Amino acid sequence: MSQTLRSGRTIPPAAKGRFIGIRACVFDAYGTLFDVHSAVARHRWRLGEKADAISSLWRSKQLEYSWQRTISRRYVDFWQITADGLDFALDAHAVDDDALREDLLDAYLTLDCYSEVPGVLRSIKDAGLHTAILSNGSPMMLEAAVSRAGIGDLLDAVISVDALGLYKPTPDVYRLAIERFDIGRSQTAFSSSNAWDAAAAACFGFKVAWCNRFSQARERLPGTPDAEIRSLDELLDLLEKDPAPQEQI
Ligand code: LAC
Repeated sequence: MSQTLRSGRTIPPAAKGRFIGIRACVFDAYGTLFDVHSAVARHRWRLGEKADAISSLWRSKQLEYSWQRTISRRYVDFWQITADGLDFALDAHAVDDDALREDLLDAYLTLDCYSEVPGVLRSIKDAGLHTAILSNGSPMMLEAAVSRAGIGDLLDAVISVDALGLYKPTPDVYRLAIERFDIGRSQTAFSSSNAWDAAAAACFGFKVAWCNRFSQARERLPGTPDAEIRSLDELLDLLEKDPAPQEQI
């Protein structure tokens, strides 16, 4: 699948071996490795028909607050922002239940990991490449999610924006990954399900796979991802080298 842009540019689908010279595979966390809607899903019965709307508003407010606080230079960590986003969403839907609020926040610390993630990380490591998370998440949140998913041994680094006090898509955030591994931008394969994150990473100069899990529309933002994939399995195709041509006998 490829999306034709009105400008005529296209985001190509995963094609075998298109990502050449990669030394590290870096992943966004929320929405990419971890299912952000799994927190509400665990308590769906307590929210009834409001569940999906609350989950969606929670996520969009969380992101909106991260951008607002970066622009206004009023950083608080992503755990605070996550709680603020939830409070907004519950309030907007007239849900006043402190116990449920606490349970939803607890669930956010141990979000479900997408099923292909452990196998993909294992294959990348077996191929001799570095693996890392680069996320808005606070160190505490990322540690909890990684530990719950059991993928700590498959990651060389878990990098949080917290060290900078700025959120994505600030370019300095993407720089954290290349500094960590002392590699070039084009040697870094970055995967994100968040189209705006993928766009910003492409602007920065990473090789970018937009993991468009839910067939979302393309953002109208600068930066075109190098490939559009449906699940992280397809990243392995992008990285895979074609076998050397067989000599004709
Ligand atoms: C992250 C958010 C953007 O993990 O999903 O950085």
